[in-house]
Amino acid sequence: MLKKVTMVMVFTLSMPMLAQAAGDAAAGKAKSMVCAACHGGNGISAVPSYPNLKGQKAAYLESSLQAFRAKTRTGNQAAMMYGMAATLSDADIANLAAYYSAL
Ligand code: HEC
Repeated sequence: MLKKVTMVMVFTLSMPMLAQAAGDAAAGKAKSMVCAACHGGNGISAVPSYPNLKGQKAAYLESSLQAFRAKTRTGNQAAMMYGMAATLSDADIANLAAYYSAL
């Protein structure tokens, strides 16, 4: 009985965190204006050597942005993303990932 109550409590307490991990696409869209210069207003880049973000998996977008922020993703044109990612919080990253993956 006590175990059941504890499980319910843990679940309830972790709900806001789950909501944040999923990201808020509307907040991500608001943050994406600066990204649009290179990745396109609809997530499709106009520059052949810049990647499209539209429809990409949220988990991949999130891990990429975290790796740019930590500068652990290197090579190619990764350095172009360092300044962009440096200004993003964990919540910003989750929101941007939710936005681009939903396009
Ligand atoms: C000045 C141009 C520029 C801006 C502005 C820019 N990016 Fe990028 N972005 C790039 C380039 C170039 C790459 C490819 C990096 C590489 O070669 O690894 C990239 C890569 C990425 C990737 C990895 C894509 C993949 O397929 O691996 C993500 C995610 C990303 N950008 C998100 C963003 C977000 C979100 C913003 C806005 C906060 C943003 N970028 C702003 C140029 C830009």
